[in-house]
Amino acid sequence: MAVSVEHGSMASAPTRGSNPYFDLNGLLELSGKGTARALYERKPFKFRHEFAANAWFSRDRILDLADALPESSVEYNLADIPVSQPVTTMPHSGLSLKETIRNIETCGSWVLLKSVEQHGDYAQLLDSCLEEIGNELGLRVEEMLSPRSFLFLTSSGGVTPFHFDPEHNFLLQIEGRKKIQIFEPFDSTIVNDRQMQDFVAGAHRNLPFRESVAERGEWFDFSAGEGVYIPFLAPHWVKNTGSVSVSFSISFETAKTKQRLSSYRRDHTDGPETLFNEQGQA
Ligand SMILES: [Fe+2]
Repeated sequence: MAVSVEHGSMASAPTRGSNPYFDLNGLLELSGKGTARALYERKPFKFRHEFAANAWFSRDRILDLADALPESSVEYNLADIPVSQPVTTMPHSGLSLKETIRNIETCGSWVLLKSVEQHGDYAQLLDSCLEEIGNELGLRVEEMLSPRSFLFLTSSGGVTPFHFDPEHNFLLQIEGRKKIQIFEPFDSTIVNDRQMQDFVAGAHRNLPFRESVAERGEWFDFSAGEGVYIPFLAPHWVKNTGSVSVSFSISFETAKTKQRLSSYRRDHTDGPETLFNEQGQA
């Protein structure tokens, strides 16, 4: 795991208490849907976590973290965009990154800090999270490949367009509320083989959203202290339904997900042909 970003002037890392960070099964027990281990890889589920109002994610700390990360690990743009959004036309506000974070309540924007574990403190945090999640799912940490963590800040009403991610994803709500609609992974009527091949060949992960399938996704509302597990390649889109939203996501691959992705690799070398054809965010 990369730990190349210096600590700089950031305050020392919050200390770990004796309580676990995650309760992956608490909300599932109430719903009667089964256990996290049984649903892993197949179905999304909600869970509880301890990061709401946690010092790891104070606004000052996020500002310092944004400052410490390389420019290539930061993306930000206006947040009031449609669910179906080609990445080539992402609109910008004209504010700097720091101005955007300081004014997130009012500037109608979306900020993504990528691979925050490049900062040593957050590398330790990610390690702790992976260990807990792995214990619940029956995975050894060594089996959780290419782990990464992302921090999202979104102004009220912000939308993350329809897309899928090539890894398992635990999305934690730290502040505010969101709703997410998640579709079955591997449903070729939503993402066909050609689109999968294009993605593996370098196309962006954003997908065109077709109203004809809009009813088929499962909705989850989640607020601070709750999170949602999004299975590998399960298409989804997210809407911020409260005021400012701060979310943290933890993702990892496995030998199985890597194998599945390589099964979509084309022999020929022509480029992607979908509308959403630009290499972009993680
Ligand atoms: Fe995603």
